[in-house]
Amino acid sequence: MVTRADIGVIGGSGFYSLLDDATEVEVTTPYGPPSDVITIGRIGTRSVAFLPRHGRDHRFSPHRIPYRANLWALRSLGVRQVLAPSAVGSLRPELGPGTLVVPDQFVDRTSGRVQTYYDDGGVVHVAFADPYCPTGRATAVSTARSSQWELVDGGTLVVIEGPRFSTRAESRWFTANGWSIVGMTGFPEAVLARELALCYTSLSLVTDHDAGVEAGEGVTHEEVLAFFGTNITRIRSLITDVVTALPEKRTCACGNALDGLKLPFDLPE
Ligand code: ADE
Repeated sequence: MVTRADIGVIGGSGFYSLLDDATEVEVTTPYGPPSDVITIGRIGTRSVAFLPRHGRDHRFSPHRIPYRANLWALRSLGVRQVLAPSAVGSLRPELGPGTLVVPDQFVDRTSGRVQTYYDDGGVVHVAFADPYCPTGRATAVSTARSSQWELVDGGTLVVIEGPRFSTRAESRWFTANGWSIVGMTGFPEAVLARELALCYTSLSLVTDHDAGVEAGEGVTHEEVLAFFGTNITRIRSLITDVVTALPEKRTCACGNALDGLKLPFDLPE
């Protein structure tokens, strides 16, 4: 039975069947419980912890997800590399549904989300110019390319507060700024991962054209869920392939994100 894991996957609930020898663990954290019990198992030779971001029954809206508890819980199980698949809207006509974007930047347009572990007991500023793990990104890009995904390597994800979708004017403004995709969960997930010295890679699957791109009524929740549902098999196999291809030893700088900083508490091992 596997009780620790190297790689964490935070995603939709269609991923349980990815894991062999799966066991469920209930984790408590100083920030309350994570979104749900975590399933630990194997994919090939790698140990993987799977956490459904919105809870199994999809009870957490994006602005209500216990992001701090989720990342802390994964780290306390041994996880050091996190893969974060999510549904996003496209801000460009040429990026259609089914495209996989591996963003290299994001812009935070959320409001009021708790975005740090270091809000008390000392000043800790992590470097965040490049928010995603370079190794995770390169692995995801080469894996997706070899399995014929329509793929975009790089681009800026704008993260909105939600739970509503954007107005047409907001959406056009995002496009005019040069941003390529829009979602609701990429922040503060990415920065909390960095604050725990974890590698974090966003796998953003375009499910719709956002309101500023599409004529008509704009995007609906049903459209997003239906698209994700019909693509779940492809996404599952992509995750399996990326997990298998991730190098076991970390050589990127993500693990050194806290070097030289005076932390007010010990991180979970
Ligand atoms: N998730 C999926 N599609 C989206 C959109 N258009 N805006 C924000 N989040 C999304």
